[in-house]
Amino acid sequence: MAKMEVKTSLLDNMIGVGDMVLLEPLNEETFINNLKKRFDHSEIYTYIGSVVISVNPYRSLPIYSPEKVEEYRNRNFYELSPHIFALSDEAYRSLRDQDKDQCILITGESGAGKTEASKLVMSYVAAVCGKGAEVNQVKEQLLQSNPVLEAFGNAKTVRNDNSSRFGKYMDIEFDFKGDPLGGVISNYLLEKSRVVKQPRGERNFHVFYQLLSGASEELLNKLKLERDFSKYNYLSLDSAKVNGVDDAANFRTVRNAMQIVGFMDHEAESVLAVVAAVLKLGNIEFKPESRVNGLDESKIKDKNELKEICELTGIDQSVLERAFSFRTVEAKQEKVSTTLNVAQAYYARDALAKNLYSRLFSWLVNRINESIKAQTKVRKKVMGVLDIYGFEIFENADNSFEQFIINYCNEKLQQIFIELTLKEEQEEYIREDIEWTHIDYFNNAIICDLIENNTNGILAMLDEECLRPGTVTDETFLEKLNQVCATHQHFESRMSKCSRFLNDTSLPHSCFRIQHYAGKVLYQVEGFVDKNNDLLYRDLSQAMWKASHALIKSLFPEGNPAKINLKRPPTAGSQFKASVATLMKNLQTKNPNYIRCIKPNDKKAAHIFTEALVCHQIRYLGLLENVRVRRAGYAFRQAYEPCLERYKMLCKQTWPHWKGPARSGVEVLFNELEIPVEEYSFGRSKIFIRNPRTLFKLEDLRKQRLEDLATLIQKIYRGWKCRTHFLLMKKSQIVIAAWYRRYAQQKRYQQTKSSALVIQSYIRGWKARKILRELKHQKRCKEAVTTIAAYWHGTQVRREYRKFFRANAGKKIYEFTLQRIVQKYFLEMKNKMPSLSPIDKNWPSRPYLFLDSTHKELKRIFHLWRCKKYRDQFTDQQKLIYEEKLEASELFKDKKALYPSSVGQPFQGAYLEINKNPKYKKLKDAIEEKIIIAEVVNKINRANGKSTSRIFLLTNNNLLLADQKSGQIKSEVPLVDVTKVSMSSQNDGFFAVHLKEGSEAASKGDFLFSSDHLIEMATKLYRTTLSQTKQKLNIEISDEFLVQFRQDKVCVKFIQGNQKNGSVPTCKRKNNRLLEVAVP
Ligand SMILES: Nc1ncnc2c1ncn2[C@@H]1O[C@H](COP(=O)(O)OP(=O)(O)OP(=O)(O)O)[C@@H](O)[C@H]1O
Ligand SMILES: [Mg+2]
Repeated sequence: MAKMEVKTSLLDNMIGVGDMVLLEPLNEETFINNLKKRFDHSEIYTYIGSVVISVNPYRSLPIYSPEKVEEYRNRNFYELSPHIFALSDEAYRSLRDQDKDQCILITGESGAGKTEASKLVMSYVAAVCGKGAEVNQVKEQLLQSNPVLEAFGNAKTVRNDNSSRFGKYMDIEFDFKGDPLGGVISNYLLEKSRVVKQPRGERNFHVFYQLLSGASEELLNKLKLERDFSKYNYLSLDSAKVNGVDDAANFRTVRNAMQIVGFMDHEAESVLAVVAAVLKLGNIEFKPESRVNGLDESKIKDKNELKEICELTGIDQSVLERAFSFRTVEAKQEKVSTTLNVAQAYYARDALAKNLYSRLFSWLVNRINESIKAQTKVRKKVMGVLDIYGFEIFENADNSFEQFIINYCNEKLQQIFIELTLKEEQEEYIREDIEWTHIDYFNNAIICDLIENNTNGILAMLDEECLRPGTVTDETFLEKLNQVCATHQHFESRMSKCSRFLNDTSLPHSCFRIQHYAGKVLYQVEGFVDKNNDLLYRDLSQAMWKASHALIKSLFPEGNPAKINLKRPPTAGSQFKASVATLMKNLQTKNPNYIRCIKPNDKKAAHIFTEALVCHQIRYLGLLENVRVRRAGYAFRQAYEPCLERYKMLCKQTWPHWKGPARSGVEVLFNELEIPVEEYSFGRSKIFIRNPRTLFKLEDLRKQRLEDLATLIQKIYRGWKCRTHFLLMKKSQIVIAAWYRRYAQQKRYQQTKSSALVIQSYIRGWKARKILRELKHQKRCKEAVTTIAAYWHGTQVRREYRKFFRANAGKKIYEFTLQRIVQKYFLEMKNKMPSLSPIDKNWPSRPYLFLDSTHKELKRIFHLWRCKKYRDQFTDQQKLIYEEKLEASELFKDKKALYPSSVGQPFQGAYLEINKNPKYKKLKDAIEEKIIIAEVVNKINRANGKSTSRIFLLTNNNLLLADQKSGQIKSEVPLVDVTKVSMSSQNDGFFAVHLKEGSEAASKGDFLFSSDHLIEMATKLYRTTLSQTKQKLNIEISDEFLVQFRQDKVCVKFIQGNQKNGSVPTCKRKNNRLLEVAVP
């Protein structure tokens, strides 16, 4: 929740306090705790009013992104959390909008983050100021000057891997719109002693290592260098490699930066040649050589290195060699040359190296200035950025001339800080019409005076000592100090005449101590005189001037014999004093902005906050003092509008809107809150609050009220949100439903469609397959037809043509032969035909076996035909006779032995011609019907077996017996009463006519007859009965049968062999029951 809040004031979500003026109570402990608390929360920036304290985080923080730049852009200083960008923005806007030149003073000890801070300021300004091709080029050149200067002026030290070993002040110039035009860089006091000697654990300037690591083989050859660091005396080896630093890559960056800044290729190469010469100078070594006059003289051990240097720089080798061996002192047209001993030769060599390098550095600065200087002559606004070494205090009296100078500079900066802060404060009070109350603060002017006073200041004394004829040593200098400064409150030394310190044995000999505003510093006097003199033998500068290398020549103008100047060059101390004075003057004309850098630990490590170390820095930076000054009268001030805006919710009249001037609103507010009147003052545009307590009270009240308001807003908001949400959901629901329905329908439609397609495709497939099958079948049929036709045609053709082939000849011949044989058979048969008599049994013999069945069949057919022919000749009467004969044959053939003899006898029927014989006239009249049989038979007497002749008459309906003589009818039997005729199977003419029992005729019993025409009579009786009664007469042929005689049944038995009567059978009654007939 807290993070979501939009910041409108630095007071929002503060960690500790964002502005130290709000510390309550204010003391060193609370100050450090506040810093630590903020540091622990990655809040590395804290304000003291408008001063920014920056604690080095020793890690990259995500607070410098382009988004952050945008966040801080055009916002008021107190609107957001403390940030270096807020200060940069304030300074830039004040420069652009209020036409005030600005300076940004960045101080702090080595490694505290000054250089980084200065780069951040520059990059911020570059990001927010105008844009455009030309402007961008200027910006780029200004920014790219940093890597070049850092390569030549920075080195790894025990405190900082990228320590600036020179002071730098850069003026960035802008036009009236705030677009950058160019810049001017000033450099202060390069630590040139580093060129020849580096403290333990430190390195020479970066450029040496970068050159050796990054240069191509070709360049190295050209510069007569070897890549191996250990080949060079001037390079310390113990820490030649720095963790996380890629010298080779940096070399490329530097070369690139040089190009961007505007160095020509030959210029860059010249610069590198000087660097190479410096490196090689360190390798020149000397050896003592005794001379005739007993003095020691130095000689160069190995002239090879010298030779190479001379080749590199274009100096005559002998000239340089001489310059290392002799020293010429000129005085009033007199020249005196003295030889140099080995120590002096080394001194001269190192002096040359240091001078060469430091002059090169100055030349570089000038060259860069030439590139980046503003091109137009319009009036410029200036923003100066000062990145200068902070206060340096080494322990164990290791502080030397350099520290002294540096600390002097810081002392001056503190002075200007105090002056400007107080001045600004005072100005604001006046501006706001607030009564000014005097503040007690420590003014360090007295210390500055101790150092820079022209008559008895330490620097003046040093110069005096250096210029004084006679032997001058560091000791004589210290003595002088002891005399002159003895009474100064801030000066201490063991030998001081001041009785106050006589007992101070903690002070070592040959040291003095100055109580700087930031603490006491013990200086070792050794080297002061020398370093102040900064002596370079004239022979060497002249030798340098003779170089054909243009750059080197230009670096030593004093070597020009034509411009010989016997006056001593200004001492290092006085030079520095002068440049500091110029700087101060420059700064005083500008609106100052302070960045105070603090180093949290000695380990270059993140997250470590060493309180003692920080405490020390706070003290010497005078930060507490700073806070005190800042809140001397009123701790906090704020313009009326933001104040009213921030606290208006605390009072009903001002909430939610105050109509009227902001100031009266704030008055109403403060009255309402009953804040004691002594706690605040109304300025013209700001309210001044005396105590931070009051502000915190206001803040607390605001926080409480905000919570209430938040609840209210929350309540309304939640209600609104829920309703909106609900409405939205409702709407969404409808939309979703609609969409879903559409989707579902679509889906269904698609499914149906795809199913239809599937079905369709199956059906089509099925149909197609069916058609295909049919077509295939048709095709096959056609093929079959073709095949069959082909076979058929083949067969036909073969058949047709077969006859033309011999294979068929046999069959043909066979058939032909057969036909001939049959033909011949039939022709022969025609001639051999037997007679047409049906009884002719002749039949020609069969000529061929295979015609056997035909022959028999032919015989049968011929016989039938012959019989038919024969029959066709018969008349109707004859047919009748034959019918009767046929009937007789069927009835008796093979049954009755008598039958064959009857075959030849024609059936005449009316043997007795009754019609003609008048005797039978009566009989004839009695019979009306047609007479079928009229014959005389023997009627066997039943009683004795004797026979009587009777006329046997058969008409259509009756059987009549009449007396032969009279013709009188004796018996008449209707044919219907005749039941059976019995006879023997033998050759006799006996037969019995059985009558129906009970009929009238049967009263006398059955008739037993004997006739010669038995067969004819039996046949005619049978036929007549059949035609009249439609019943077949039963004819029994048996040799024993029963006959009814009156009441008795008599058996008639035929026996064989009665010879008595010849061939006539005899009948004899044997008993009642038996009548025996003997048949011959
Ligand atoms: N704001 C920062 N964010 C991250 N790292 C930082 C920041 N400031 C400083 N540092 C780290 O601290 C190191 C030292 O910083 P810098 O070189 O600016 O110190 P300095 O004050 O210029 O020291 P010197 O006086 O020796 O030049 C940097 O190399 C960097 O690693
Ligand atoms: Mg630095």
